[in-house]
Amino acid sequence: MKHLLFIIGSFRKESFNRQLAKIAEDYLKDRYEISYLDFNDIPFMNQDLEIKGQGQHLSHDQEHIYRVRQEILKADGIWIFTPEYNHSYPGLLKNLFDWLSRPMDISNFANPTAVQGKKVTASGAGGKNKTASCRAKLNDMLEYIKMDVMKEPQTGIALGMEAWVKGEFKLTEEQLNEIKEQAEKFAEFVG
Ligand SMILES: Cc1cc2nc3c(=O)[nH]c(=O)nc-3n(C[C@H](O)[C@H](O)[C@H](O)COP(=O)(O)O)c2cc1C
Repeated sequence: MKHLLFIIGSFRKESFNRQLAKIAEDYLKDRYEISYLDFNDIPFMNQDLEIKGQGQHLSHDQEHIYRVRQEILKADGIWIFTPEYNHSYPGLLKNLFDWLSRPMDISNFANPTAVQGKKVTASGAGGKNKTASCRAKLNDMLEYIKMDVMKEPQTGIALGMEAWVKGEFKLTEEQLNEIKEQAEKFAEFVG
């Protein structure tokens, strides 16, 4: 069975984006093994921490970076579910992908990264803008680091009043169809 890795751009416990991912998971779980990337323990980018060569003794921080890269390598496809923060994508995703953009063995810059050529798509739940600015910038960055990005279709959810006031995440029939269609198209894209 092929493997999909879901990345949530919010560490909030009741994250609407995590709830959106659960819906996508339900559509795909019979066809793919699905897991969620745990990356809240990776450090901020610091070139002093980059990993050089095989057999290097890894610090705790480096072990976290190494583990995250291994999770990425195992995935046949990556689906990012993210809020929009200030017209862009959250800094925690920028930090994650800054690490992933670096060669796994930094001693030679021609060495491969964990993400190059990897199939990826994105969705987001947020305000009226439906995370459009966030995803445009995210898609651009993902292409820059040589990922294979499915830009169409991508689901953007404008959260309803009950989400903002009561913290309840409810999707309309139309929104459910959108995420379902993206799930189907991503399954074709990943194969
Ligand atoms: C720092 C910050 C900036 C935000 N900026 C935007 C924004 O530019 N556009 C938007 O639609 N929502 C913005 N929001 C609101 C988020 O979309 C909203 O909090 C959303 O529920 C977060 O997703 P989550 O439920 O998955 O954590 C912002 C929230 C935070 C914390």
